[in-house]
Amino acid sequence: MNIVLLHPGQMGVTIGQALLRSGHEVRWVAQGRSQQTRQRAHRSGFTETAELIEAFDGADAVVSVCPPSEAQSVMDQVLGCGYQGLYLDANAVAPETAQAMARKLGDRYIDGGIIGPPAQTAGSTRLYLSGSGADAALKWFDDDILGVVTIGSDASAASSLKMCYAAYTKGSSALLLAVRALACSLNVEDALLNEWSLSQAGLETRAKATARGTAAKAWRFSGEMAEIATTFAGAGLPNGFHLAAREIYDRMGPLKDSADADLELVMNAILQTPGTADS
Ligand SMILES: NC(=O)c1ccc[n+]([C@@H]2O[C@H](COP(=O)([O-])OP(=O)(O)OC[C@H]3O[C@@H](n4cnc5c(N)ncnc54)[C@H](OP(=O)(O)O)[C@@H]3O)[C@@H](O)[C@H]2O)c1
Repeated sequence: MNIVLLHPGQMGVTIGQALLRSGHEVRWVAQGRSQQTRQRAHRSGFTETAELIEAFDGADAVVSVCPPSEAQSVMDQVLGCGYQGLYLDANAVAPETAQAMARKLGDRYIDGGIIGPPAQTAGSTRLYLSGSGADAALKWFDDDILGVVTIGSDASAASSLKMCYAAYTKGSSALLLAVRALACSLNVEDALLNEWSLSQAGLETRAKATARGTAAKAWRFSGEMAEIATTFAGAGLPNGFHLAAREIYDRMGPLKDSADADLELVMNAILQTPGTADS
């Protein structure tokens, strides 16, 4: 098959590599993308097309792996090109967002949700699929590294699963960083760390690892927190946890792509008011 990957980011490139290993041609679109995306795509052996419309000539399927906040706009751009084939959205979006896309695409929409880090080691990462085309999309993958799992015909089940999973992982990360910032602001940091060492073993180390692991990606988590808040509200549950988590990640936004951000830099970013973090 000829499969168009939008776009080869850190996760997307590993989904494309799984498709390549499964025997497909993988196309990517250079228009609007950075040098980092270009390098990832070229290193992986994907076929470059200059513009979106060019990529759809003879294409069998589109796989979207992009910032969650852009998922609908990427799909609209694809439809604007007159593309008529299957469309797998694998982004971290609310079931409401997935259903809105499904309404536009009908049976051509396949819902996806990715859990785990970029798929470089067998067993680390799973792509969950749902919707009427999920069984067909499962057959695109014949790979030992990326796990692909179907979870039924509901057009938004894979997105719902991803929202539940990330609500805890990224929500608790934001809470932990917010608590460290609060203790710092109230001048009780040393006393809190001492108490944690007595009664919450491992939390100090976890906070440091969380700061290092999230700083560069926080800008992208903001949109994901908004999707999770929409999911809670849609289910009639309080969504304030994740609206606040979004604000924490927004404050960390200026650390985008910083390779060496540590807890101190993250605390500085969180404790400044939005818009002044890099001043
Ligand atoms: N990374 C993970 O560990 C992980 C884990 C689970 C799920 N996911 C999901 O995978 C998706 C993408 O993650 P990722 O790690 O690949 O992100 P990423 O490394 O930030 O890459 C995002 C890709 O989308 C492109 N992009 C940036 N801004 C865009 C825009 N406004 N419109 C369209 N495309 C844009 C980027 O291109 P340029 O930067 O070149 O502009 C890049 O190629 C998200 O939905 C995320 O929730 C990721």
